[in-house]
Amino acid sequence: MSAPNKSYDPVEVEALKPEEIARMRDEALAAIAAAGDLQALHEVKVAQTGGTSPLALANREIGALPPQAKAEAGKRVGQARGQVSQALKKRQEELEAERDARVLVEEAVDVTLPYDRARAGARHPLTTLSERIEDIFVAMGYEVAEGPEVESEWLNFDALNLSPDHPARTTHDTFFVENAATGTEQSGVVLRTHTSPVQIRTMLDREPPLYVVCPGRVYRTDELDATHTPVFSQVELLAIDEGLTMADLKGTLDHMVRALFGEGMQTRLRPNYFPFTEPSAEMDMVCYVCRGASVGDPERPCRTCSSEGWIELGGCGMVNPRVLVSCGVDPEKYSGFAFGFGIERMLMFRHNVEDMRDMVEGDVRFTRPFGMEI
Ligand code: DAH
Repeated sequence: MSAPNKSYDPVEVEALKPEEIARMRDEALAAIAAAGDLQALHEVKVAQTGGTSPLALANREIGALPPQAKAEAGKRVGQARGQVSQALKKRQEELEAERDARVLVEEAVDVTLPYDRARAGARHPLTTLSERIEDIFVAMGYEVAEGPEVESEWLNFDALNLSPDHPARTTHDTFFVENAATGTEQSGVVLRTHTSPVQIRTMLDREPPLYVVCPGRVYRTDELDATHTPVFSQVELLAIDEGLTMADLKGTLDHMVRALFGEGMQTRLRPNYFPFTEPSAEMDMVCYVCRGASVGDPERPCRTCSSEGWIELGGCGMVNPRVLVSCGVDPEKYSGFAFGFGIERMLMFRHNVEDMRDMVEGDVRFTRPFGMEI
């Protein structure tokens, strides 16, 4: 048996020397203080307090010491480990507080911001322009009158002095409504080709004086392309009173284009033929873009009016006495004027819409820029 190791001195165990324990502790404390975030601190914790950490390894050495040395070495190592775990706890709290403060700022929700509303739609510009035109006339005392889109052939043509063999009828490419009984087009019913039958309905309905504005959809058998559509919109005007003349018609047209396009606008009338007015005219307005300045000036061409200085709006005239008679209005006592024009065309040059298809396809990307005009 070997004799007890008298020369054994615990202080001689390298890992348990006070300065060595102090160095391990200081290293651990420095690493804890340097941990910049919770993840880094977690790594420091594993390295400084885990089973293979310097202080844990030193702790294991204690067991090999003689009993009298154990207590002192155990106290030293225990104190060092206690300081390290306290420092860890403190740093953990600091970093958690920092993280909570940061999250509060980064993930803050400003409840006063407008909430994410569903996008508002927009009314169709054809509707708003048509209503704007109606408003101009309502302000002058006119009433809004409407008629059906499926109309009798008599009101659409005959009563307007367009007899069945009248050549002008063929210029209206008409949709005929099928006769359910015979399966033919001989039903006497059409999709109205213009808003002029509303003139007739108004005169048959009421006694003059009459001042009406008639907006509405009309139909012709055109193919849909950049400049044609089989369904389009017109606004019709009818005034019947005693003593109305072409001067009243001209003044009314001038007022309308000024209200729509601004001061200084004018109209001009060019002789034309419509069966329901006599005399009849084509009405033009001064080009609202160049105001006529492009005429004869190749330096300043105008795309809107093709450098003509005028834009064609529609047809007009004094109501034909034959029409008055067919509606029971005495042409000796009353006279009247009427005009009608297409809204699509007006929208095209008023808002630079280049393709008519945009107006009928119903894409909100087309209507949205016009905004909400009420
Ligand atoms: N109804 C005609 C068309 O659609 C336009 C028109 C011309 C209307 C002359 C009128 C008018 O009231 O007087 O082509």
